[in-house]
Amino acid sequence: MSFDYSNQLKAVFGKNAEVYAEKFADQSAFQESIDFFCAHIKSNPIVLELGCGPGNLSAYILDKVNPASFTGLDVAPEMIELFQKRFPTHNAVVGDINSFSFEHPLDAIIAGFCVPYLSEFELRSLVKKMKNALTINGLCYWSWILGNNESKTTKSSDGKHQLLMHYYSYEFMKSLFEGSGFEVLNYQEVGEDGVFIWQKS
Ligand SMILES: C[S@@+](CC[C@H](N)C(=O)[O-])C[C@H]1O[C@@H](n2cnc3c(N)ncnc32)[C@H](O)[C@@H]1O
Repeated sequence: MSFDYSNQLKAVFGKNAEVYAEKFADQSAFQESIDFFCAHIKSNPIVLELGCGPGNLSAYILDKVNPASFTGLDVAPEMIELFQKRFPTHNAVVGDINSFSFEHPLDAIIAGFCVPYLSEFELRSLVKKMKNALTINGLCYWSWILGNNESKTTKSSDGKHQLLMHYYSYEFMKSLFEGSGFEVLNYQEVGEDGVFIWQKS
């Protein structure tokens, strides 16, 4: 990720962290995927959440799963501050997904809507890193905005910022993961959003 793009992400997500936390607090549209993920994860797992934001998705998962270790990673310090306030006993790290060194082994990785901010090159390299970091049968919760493998400059929800976002198709995502040693356990589509639950085979 370029220095400029990283700063743009920090501006968009950092300045709007409180608003974002409230606006997207309700994750119940993804309940099927969340329940599936929680039902299939091993007990007391070691979990890493990429682009955790203020912890909206984490809250649903932590309601059902008792992790041995749970780390939230986000590029925006304001998001990490909210995450840490909400979950003071869990680990909160400010950092970029693309340069973060994954600790091995991980039982599960959660990536809730941080995918639209990753280029195809970054995505391919992330999937490889995830494959190496996960234990056998380790799980991945993966949500993204569906599209035709295109990148578009999109206005942030407050209308104040423009950000390049990436939209990937179902077929692209399926073939990327299956070709990298993952098996689909579940898929849910909610409007323009897709959620896969992957298992490392
Ligand atoms: C749309 S929000 C999703 C937040 C949370 N996962 C949820 O589902 O509510 C995307 C989050 O990913 C973070 N993010 C985007 N690209 C990132 C990167 N390269 N490294 C770390 N965090 C990133 C943003 O700062 C933002 O908090």
